[in-house]
Amino acid sequence: MLMLNLSGSKRRLVLSTLLICAVILELAYCQKEAEEQRTTPGRKPKPSKPKLGKSTKSPRAVTTKPKVKATPAAPPQTFLTQVLNRGKFKKVGESVSVQTGDTLELRCRGSPVQWSVPPYLEEDDDGRLRIVQHERYGVLTLVNTTGADTGEYTCYPTYCEDTDCRKEYDKAVKVFVFFPDPQELFVPSSDYYEVIQLRTNWPTVLPCQVTSPEAKVTLHREFPPVEVAVDGTEISFNVKKGFTIHRPRPYHAGALYCVASLGNLRQSSTKYMLIYVNYPMAPPAPVIQASPSSVAVGENLRVSCSVVGEQDVVVEFNWEYPGQQIGRPLYTQESVSPVGEGAARQQSQSVLLVDEARDVDQGTYTCTAQNLQGAKSVSTTVKVVPKAKPKKP
Ligand SMILES: *[C@@H]1O[C@H](CO)[C@@H](O)[C@H](O)[C@H]1NC(C)=O
Repeated sequence: MLMLNLSGSKRRLVLSTLLICAVILELAYCQKEAEEQRTTPGRKPKPSKPKLGKSTKSPRAVTTKPKVKATPAAPPQTFLTQVLNRGKFKKVGESVSVQTGDTLELRCRGSPVQWSVPPYLEEDDDGRLRIVQHERYGVLTLVNTTGADTGEYTCYPTYCEDTDCRKEYDKAVKVFVFFPDPQELFVPSSDYYEVIQLRTNWPTVLPCQVTSPEAKVTLHREFPPVEVAVDGTEISFNVKKGFTIHRPRPYHAGALYCVASLGNLRQSSTKYMLIYVNYPMAPPAPVIQASPSSVAVGENLRVSCSVVGEQDVVVEFNWEYPGQQIGRPLYTQESVSPVGEGAARQQSQSVLLVDEARDVDQGTYTCTAQNLQGAKSVSTTVKVVPKAKPKKP
């Protein structure tokens, strides 16, 4: 739903220097170093599937198989080291800055390992990204880097059973790599603006991603032209993500953009068109009723499906009924009406009309009601009985 699609982005290649020095990061996974570094607690695995299968020789991970793996008593710790010069190691934290133009080299212990990279790198395969699996570790190399390469790089050790391999999300090692670009403070986007839905009760991210962690970033409204207050509670800023509006309200809607400044440079991001969507609290709870539930051949039948819910929340209805297979036509009447005094709630209803019931209309009628939060189905059965014989005079 969110228009965060970066596909087709034509990132500018800023190549001002020859690539003499390479920065090597080692994303390692090793028990020996357990005392030196502690894992970051509460790290959630990224649900997105990296599609690097074509460039790696590693087997495709199988994530759906509910295979049980033997959990070691004390899970090994993860750590990151940065190779500054040949043989000179330095530990890195959650993020690192690499000069644009330099080569990024990430090393991750495991056999095999899988990688995920910023989305546009996965989509625009311009030959700068190379992934090689060695016997005991995987290496990701990115050459001719630009500010556009800024983002999260993750290595997943894999667990294999026979030929089935799956990522070990809990052992993923991540590093956020900034490529400070002297000309581009924001990670470039090909779109002049992005449309973002503001959903009730759902945090919204304005993904203005800076290429340098030193840039000072502010949020602005186009009309009226004001700087938006960022208090850290209602709206917060994270240098690896952008701005988050934690509990969107209708007044947040409109055209917003970010401004980054660093040194003498001051730049505006892509514009974000924020559209407020009245988002329901829960999936609908439909109630179905057939009248009559036992119908004589030739009589009319009505099956109603109704939902009482929040006002201005659209509910869609879908029907399944016995006559469907033989192409019996479906007639429905849909209506919305306020409920109660203050009208804070409304009833949405769909009525399925069966004219002149036949034997084929006997069976189960299912109504599925859907809103933006989900769908729920309810069923009822209808019996068709023979026509009452007219009394002989
Ligand atoms: C990297 O840049 C150099 C110099 O411009 C160029 O010769 C080389 O082909 C580039 N490599 C890739 C993989 O794009």
